[in-house]
Amino acid sequence: MKIIMLGAPGAGKGTQAKKLAEKYGIPHISTGDIFRANIKNNTELGQKAKVYMDQGLLVPDELVVDLVVDRFKNPDCEKGYVLDGFPRTIPQAEALDEALTKNGDAIEYAIDVDVPDEDIIKRMSGRRACVNCGETYHIVNIPPKKEGICDVCNNSLVLRDDDQPETVKKRLAVYHEQTQPLIDYYRNKGILKTVDGTKKMDETFDEIVAIIEA
Ligand code: AP5
Ligand code: MG
Ligand code: ZN
Repeated sequence: MKIIMLGAPGAGKGTQAKKLAEKYGIPHISTGDIFRANIKNNTELGQKAKVYMDQGLLVPDELVVDLVVDRFKNPDCEKGYVLDGFPRTIPQAEALDEALTKNGDAIEYAIDVDVPDEDIIKRMSGRRACVNCGETYHIVNIPPKKEGICDVCNNSLVLRDDDQPETVKKRLAVYHEQTQPLIDYYRNKGILKTVDGTKKMDETFDEIVAIIEA
């Protein structure tokens, strides 16, 4: 099962992708998480990506595409995967199609998690992420059991650098300009499905599962 999660920053792509990965036993591949792990480990890729991410800009396509296509070679991708935050530009989508077509593969669902910009800005200021494992919470909607502490690994929770309000506005502008065109791209391929991301987390998840199991 090969799924792409589309949606604005903070729409809940990561939250839903993680649940899908658990339910269907496929890996959750988040390019944002991969970059953050590289930044934490101070790799060359991390140093390059951080310059763009901190400004709310996209990392250049050439730093992203090979990374993801290489990841598919991992044996855990045999049954499929859920892509979160990739592709994010038309050239990335085209590169993905090309890589898949070579193997006679294709994406089955592109799920757009739809949330208006106003809701996004509110959500992001409440998001907290674990410094160690990247697990995300929301101080009101999805709080950790113990305030400021990750349920999974007991490390501390922080506001992501790029979740500062001004950077969130920039990320939204970049989304509308560079990523939103992918909605039409996948609609034209006949695999676009839109779900309401303003509902409760589990309700949005049920909508996605209903689409997949229809
Ligand atoms: P990335 O990490 O992908 O960030 P993003 O797309 O901006 O998305 P987020 O992770 O911020 O949001 P999300 O949709 O996953 O929402 P979440 O589930 O956390 O990318 C970061 C940066 O890396 C980019 O800006 C770019 O620079 C670079 N990058 C990454 N991929 C790239 C690529 N392919 N090409 C180029 N550059 C790339 O939810 C948000 C919050 O809301 C959480 O607090 C959550 O708990 C809460 N929440 C979730 N669902 C609900 C709900 N239903 N109701 C209420 N609250 C909810
Ligand atoms: Mg995410
Ligand atoms: Zn953690």
